[in-house]
Amino acid sequence: MRQDHLVAAGQLSRADVERVLDRAAEFDAALATGDPLPARYPETVLALCFYEPSTRTKMSFETAMKRLGGDVVDMGGVDASSVKKGESLADTVRVIQGYADGIVLRHPREGAARMASEFVDVPVVNAGDGAGQHPSQTLLDLYTIREAAGLDDLTIGIVGDLKYGRTVHSLATALTEFDAHMHFVSPESLRLPRSVRFDLHEAGAQVREHTELDEVLPELDVLYVTRIQRERFPDEDEYEKVAGQFQIDAETLAAAGDDLTVMHPLPRVDEIDPEIDDTDDANYFEQAHNGVPVRMALLDLLLSNHE
Ligand code: NCD
Repeated sequence: MRQDHLVAAGQLSRADVERVLDRAAEFDAALATGDPLPARYPETVLALCFYEPSTRTKMSFETAMKRLGGDVVDMGGVDASSVKKGESLADTVRVIQGYADGIVLRHPREGAARMASEFVDVPVVNAGDGAGQHPSQTLLDLYTIREAAGLDDLTIGIVGDLKYGRTVHSLATALTEFDAHMHFVSPESLRLPRSVRFDLHEAGAQVREHTELDEVLPELDVLYVTRIQRERFPDEDEYEKVAGQFQIDAETLAAAGDDLTVMHPLPRVDEIDPEIDDTDDANYFEQAHNGVPVRMALLDLLLSNHE
């Protein structure tokens, strides 16, 4: 990786992505043996600063750091920290860099991680900035896609909340490096933001937008389903209008090709019927598990750059 921080997927070249995924595959194989791993970063402490709820991202970063032999400090929820007393993000991260060798930040405001990275010398990973970006999720998504379908000549359908879904914004950007055919399926009101469409266009991406999934389902290698991001809607009535659209069940998937891989960054609400979980199509729990080796690889690269 060229950069010290990972704040947006646009920073990642194809070579950067491949380097992380190859390293992740090594960690994946080492973890699968069940043997203890060498403690590569025994003195290293990673700070977890989550201003929004998280299960997978936070716990998999914590597991990754511990599997690398390091440790974590956790800011705790916003209510338990000095944020409650009115401390600015800039002050908080400047203080935390004195305690830790890296910072994983999730924040409701778009651009928060980039701003934080300008105030500190330790690596900052954007673990989600409002409706902006979530680039470490993208790395595990790409790892999962590479394992299940391959990244060459990929046709992917991304369905659900494309407006507020930060995992979508990062994934779409990264997929331009792989010349993927991208189909975006959403209600009209939840289309990709104009800025993301512009970036995809500038990158020469092969993009089509749809309001119905069945138009494209048979062509897809991967179906990437997302949750409607209720917490980002300014108005509950607007949420109600789109809630429950694009629920995927066995009947929906009957029209899909034989080798479809279904992914979801999780948590799901009602977008994927649990009847899919035990089918060969379902890959979302595997995808979540891939968070550990992929974040090990990312931390390894960022921390070794920084040494
Ligand atoms: C996603 C997020 O926080 O953006 N969750 C995750 O990190 N796996 C997706 C979501 O919340 O819908």
